[in-house]
Amino acid sequence: MKKASIIMDRDYTIGRVDPRLYGSFIEHLGRAVYGGIYEPDHPTADEDGFRRDVIDLVRRLRVPIVRYPGGNFVSGFNWEDSVGPRELRPKRLDLAWFTTETNEVGLHEFAHWAKKAGAEVMYAVNLGTRGADAARNVVEYCNHPGGSAWSDLRRKNGEENPFGIKLWCLGNEMDGPWQMGHKTAVEYGRAAAEAGRVMKWVDPSIELVACGSAAHDMPTYGEWEYQMLTECYDQVDYVSLHRYYGNPTGDTPGFLARAMDLDAFITEVIAICDAVGGKKHAKKHLNLSFDEWNVWYHSSQQDQEVWKREKWSRALPLLEDVYNLEDALLCGTILITFLKHADRVKVACLAQLVNVIAPIMTRTGGGAWAQTIYWPLLHASTYGRGTALRPVVKSPVYDCSDFDAVPFVDAAATADDDGNVTIFAVSRSTDEATELTGDLRAFGDLRVAEHIVLTHSDVKAVNTEENPDNVAPVTVTGDTLEGGKLTAVLPPQSWNVIRLTRA
Ligand code: AHR
Repeated sequence: MKKASIIMDRDYTIGRVDPRLYGSFIEHLGRAVYGGIYEPDHPTADEDGFRRDVIDLVRRLRVPIVRYPGGNFVSGFNWEDSVGPRELRPKRLDLAWFTTETNEVGLHEFAHWAKKAGAEVMYAVNLGTRGADAARNVVEYCNHPGGSAWSDLRRKNGEENPFGIKLWCLGNEMDGPWQMGHKTAVEYGRAAAEAGRVMKWVDPSIELVACGSAAHDMPTYGEWEYQMLTECYDQVDYVSLHRYYGNPTGDTPGFLARAMDLDAFITEVIAICDAVGGKKHAKKHLNLSFDEWNVWYHSSQQDQEVWKREKWSRALPLLEDVYNLEDALLCGTILITFLKHADRVKVACLAQLVNVIAPIMTRTGGGAWAQTIYWPLLHASTYGRGTALRPVVKSPVYDCSDFDAVPFVDAAATADDDGNVTIFAVSRSTDEATELTGDLRAFGDLRVAEHIVLTHSDVKAVNTEENPDNVAPVTVTGDTLEGGKLTAVLPPQSWNVIRLTRA
């Protein structure tokens, strides 16, 4: 058996965990909206056409915020198409995903859905084919009480009170050549500054997210952040980061090490934000919005075939990755990495939420079920609130294709406001269990309330509609906590949640 240890003290903390760390994302893409959250003919549909079975699964996740309506989609989107009487809304070609967008679900409908799901809306404006004028108008439409053209149109469209959307994305992945209206760093920085300025004049209480690079390995990465922030630092509050990982070669140890890349990415973007802030003698610090993250590669080939078969249909089955255990473990290490940076990463969105690279899958006309990656998000969102602790973790290490000295055990810990402590740990060992000992003397009386484990003998095991609990969490026994000394066993290839509560 391998051996690892964790030492924690209540005074060694990283920072408060912003609940928005457990956010997600719904884009008008594939079957996320149509056939995902919205299916008026479905047996579980509510009075607004939303699937109740999906809402139940989303509510269990306690997702506090959902980014909307894109993604690449937003860079060609006219928000005005999505409000007013449904029968008058235009059908548009969506050039991001080669689909026809019918606008049956729009701004009002999505805001109502989010309320039912217990989440706030994080709204993205189009800085691809549009700019400051459309951006300020949609803020006025959503957040101004009344007495102006756009706010009165909202009231006429049935919403007397403002939606009160607090967090806004200034475009999406604007450095990506695949993006409609993509820009150079300086062009984007200027556009974001000007849009941000007028949006905040309409509603000074809103917060704004500037687009960082579309990925850590973009050729423009780094320079992009520095140049665009030089233009818009004063207007924005967060910089976005996006990152997807894949394992097309089937290299499990290498794949499970990808959080090392994520950690470097976050550390570097913080450094760039602070470099620009320092250069500007700024008092404010920018925080990070990691508003797209996940595993994404399983469906890539299938998507090419879908487009070959049928372009421009509504609700094409796109990006329908079926996730296995190793994907869930990687997602666990990503959540652990966010907790390690809880002082600066304030928003994070698992991309996406339903059907499209998603923790929740549906069959149109059929069931809804949780994929493997549903569970780490559910556990972190449920138990990982309060204060992120700064544990010292010692673990044996391994070398792999891209990284040296990868710890077999990756862990983070939180303490809630009642003094209960939760340890989140992933064992990257594929063949052997690990004994984890913990020194928790500084916390006084705690007892092991529960040790939840997500594992499977087959790292490629998946959940399906027929077998939705193939990879599902179980509670294990045998952990001890005596005199502040914890002993627990982490099974090979496992996600672990060790809940320690006041005795
Ligand atoms: O989440 C899927 C797509 O990935 C988003 O539309 C885009 O922002 C990113 O490239």
